[in-house]
Amino acid sequence: MTSFLIKGVSVVGGPATDLRLRDGTVAEVGPDLPTTDAEVIDAAGLVALPGLVDMHTHLREPGREDAETVATGSRAAALGGYTAVCAMANTDPVADTAGVVEQVWRLGRRAGLVDVQPVGAVTVGLRGERLSELGAMAESAAAVRIFSDDGHCVADPRLMRRALEYVKAFDGVIAQHAEEPRLTEGAQMHEGEVSARLGLTGWPAVAEEAIIARDALLAEHVGARLHICHVSTAGSVELIRAAKARGVRVSAEVTPHHLLLTDDRVGGYDPVFKVNPPLRTERDVAALREAVRDGVIDVIATDHAPHTVEDKECEWAYARPGMLGLQTALSVALSVFGPDWRLLADRLSCQPARLAGLTGHGVDPAPGAPANLTLVDPAAQVTVEPAELASRSRNTPYAGLQLPGRVVATFLRGEPTVLDGKAVK
Ligand code: DOR
Ligand code: ZN
Repeated sequence: MTSFLIKGVSVVGGPATDLRLRDGTVAEVGPDLPTTDAEVIDAAGLVALPGLVDMHTHLREPGREDAETVATGSRAAALGGYTAVCAMANTDPVADTAGVVEQVWRLGRRAGLVDVQPVGAVTVGLRGERLSELGAMAESAAAVRIFSDDGHCVADPRLMRRALEYVKAFDGVIAQHAEEPRLTEGAQMHEGEVSARLGLTGWPAVAEEAIIARDALLAEHVGARLHICHVSTAGSVELIRAAKARGVRVSAEVTPHHLLLTDDRVGGYDPVFKVNPPLRTERDVAALREAVRDGVIDVIATDHAPHTVEDKECEWAYARPGMLGLQTALSVALSVFGPDWRLLADRLSCQPARLAGLTGHGVDPAPGAPANLTLVDPAAQVTVEPAELASRSRNTPYAGLQLPGRVVATFLRGEPTVLDGKAVK
């Protein structure tokens, strides 16, 4: 095992120092460490962050390997600065058994670029009719802790209650895709001025908020952990703020695209901007940003949702919802929040690692800590080129956009997965 000496790096925005990585851990931190036999990385001007952790990634394997695989998605993740990702359960077959989650977990180990932590489906086949084998998935080699029907809402309140009761026994968490299905039938975009002008069926904010209000009450009643996926409205933020204030065990995530883009993008009918929940308004974006700053929203999660050209470059109404996110999340967050490295490390690494129970991740580089970290060049500007992305799909909404910050290197347990901005395998 090679050891690395990272010279002159700012640890989460602090003063320049050296880091020695050896045997999978951060062995030493301090100025002017001796070189010994280490491989030296000149990191002057770079910032070291704990390796990013994505609570919400669609890797598409098994079933849609034409859109993404565990290997291609892992590569995109490492290049984006990630050392761990939670793989959503809406695969084909659905990750609703110990067998499927173990398969995904093993594929992640084999790719070896990030820790792939499978999410288990709440209900069999994501059909919202009966609970899947939650306990068997928790006890499997994949040790599932997060359960989600993401892509679908667990709409039946009785089933949602049972799911919360079940996972409470092993401190699991139900991650809800908050969308009251009766209020979003046929929906194509956010319901508001733009949808009225375009004549497209709207997805009203209340469809998200009604489920969050209900589930916060259920989580409070049961005393179990609830996580809200991809929060997209100002009203949702206020519901989560109120639930947290009265002690409900609720956490929340927001995506980079909901922090940056608004529904006026739909006007060009380019399906690259079609996503679920939909892009909202300036007012929502402002509230989401504020909620990240004040901690009501715990986590920035990508909802990386690769789709093939056939599923994306078609008429708006037929296009699948979703956009790529793994390789652009840090840059989008940096452009939104500026170089507040403590905030970025917390929302992109520490909080998601804590909520997902990924010990060894989300820890600042310090002596004895596992060497899961990423080195970022904050001065670099990168223009997003879809063809250059590591994902098997091309559906980034940021094509041609110049964004700040570049991931220079990523280390997983002391071994580089990215060096000089390139994946090592
Ligand atoms: O836009 C989305 N795409 N939202 C979801 O909830 C699911 C995801 C997907 O799987 O493509
Ligand atoms: Zn979702």
